[in-house]
Amino acid sequence: MNAGTIVIVGAGQAGALAAAELRQQGYAGRVVLIGEEAHAPYERPPLSKDVLLHPQTARWAIHGEGFYAEQNIELMLGVAVTALDAQARSVTLATGESIVFDELLLATGARVRRLPMLDALGGPHECVHTLRTLDDAQRLLPVLQAGKRVLLVGAGVIGLELASSAVDLGAQVTVIEQAERAMARCAPPLLTAHLCDVHRARGVALHLGTPLASATRENGEIVLTLEDGTRLAGDAVIYGIGVEPETTLARAAGLHVDNGIVIDALCRTSHAHIYAAGDAASQRDAAGGRPRRRETWENANRQAQTAARTMLGVAAEAHEADWFWTDQCGLNIQFAGEMAAPEWLARGSLEAPPCVLFGLDGEGALVGAITVNQGRDMRSLKALIGKRARIARETLADPAQNLRNLAREFA
Ligand code: APR
Repeated sequence: MNAGTIVIVGAGQAGALAAAELRQQGYAGRVVLIGEEAHAPYERPPLSKDVLLHPQTARWAIHGEGFYAEQNIELMLGVAVTALDAQARSVTLATGESIVFDELLLATGARVRRLPMLDALGGPHECVHTLRTLDDAQRLLPVLQAGKRVLLVGAGVIGLELASSAVDLGAQVTVIEQAERAMARCAPPLLTAHLCDVHRARGVALHLGTPLASATRENGEIVLTLEDGTRLAGDAVIYGIGVEPETTLARAAGLHVDNGIVIDALCRTSHAHIYAAGDAASQRDAAGGRPRRRETWENANRQAQTAARTMLGVAAEAHEADWFWTDQCGLNIQFAGEMAAPEWLARGSLEAPPCVLFGLDGEGALVGAITVNQGRDMRSLKALIGKRARIARETLADPAQNLRNLAREFA
């Protein structure tokens, strides 16, 4: 396909990358990229870190100024798509305008899971915050200041990254997590237990396994009461209790949705001319099975590329292992592959990074890996995970054994 109209709904990481990939692959037709937010497509990873810590110098734009015009990508910002007619192949915008498409990519992302008990505490953005957008991050700047008492609900990726930034900015931080451990969705206990120690050593009061019982405002402060009776007072509360895929358009249009817009390995939905990518998508792998949603930057990029190429009939690149990272407390922690591996083996010590953790399956094959301040090993680790390499435990644990050489042996 080299003419016609491709519409992309959602101008986040996946949407912006897909638009760029279409041009990269030489597509000469019309590309329309529609985003609800007023900002040009931006990266989300800096929102909990650089944007808060260095607001004057932080960079977040995905593409440089002028990119969309140069690439003849019609970027429509600050406008929501309100309806999708899959049969007529058209989308309707909040302005009332309709656009007919040949192919459509739904890159609608995810929205914050709401906690009504906290939302009820005050008007939006008054003393209760969440973090998903650039506007959200900018609203946090006056909240995360020296001496402010900040209550963070949820010790997931967002909660812990915010705890780290808030401490750096001099705030007094309390974290409340209902689960028995932090970052349980995406990291193994060995790592999260250590991370919690690091946060505590930096002064964070961390309450694990303690669900919220009530939230009130008393004399200008917020009081959260936990189920064990503990009362915690603060000036502001920020919560990060997960995200939900934005599937409203897909559902209304009758597409198959199962915890995300269901796509196959080539990012095709249940409609022949509609694709999905990024946080909104739930992907079946080549082996079938229950579709899986991946909330990572790398996944958004990869699915965007695959969707764009599939639309044009170009083969997508092979996918090695899932990959994501977090930066907190001066640690760069990168994760690849399966985090639910039953056995973890360390090279070096978490207490004295750099350190690498190897995740082994029941047969001793490498299925996951974590680097702590040792990102340079990630490429080799991903390759080894891709091969489900079986390597002697002594070799894995020995820092003298070069991982790049090992990866070459298995190539
Ligand atoms: N009270 C306290 N904690 C809660 C509650 C609650 N009512 N409900 C859920 N939690 C906890 C979960 O147990 C989990 O530890 O909130 C945490 C949510 O963690 P994540 O799933 O990692 O979600 P979040 O931190 O909000 O990150 C959202 O941003 O950076 C990305 O990869 C990240 O895609 C993810 C998204």
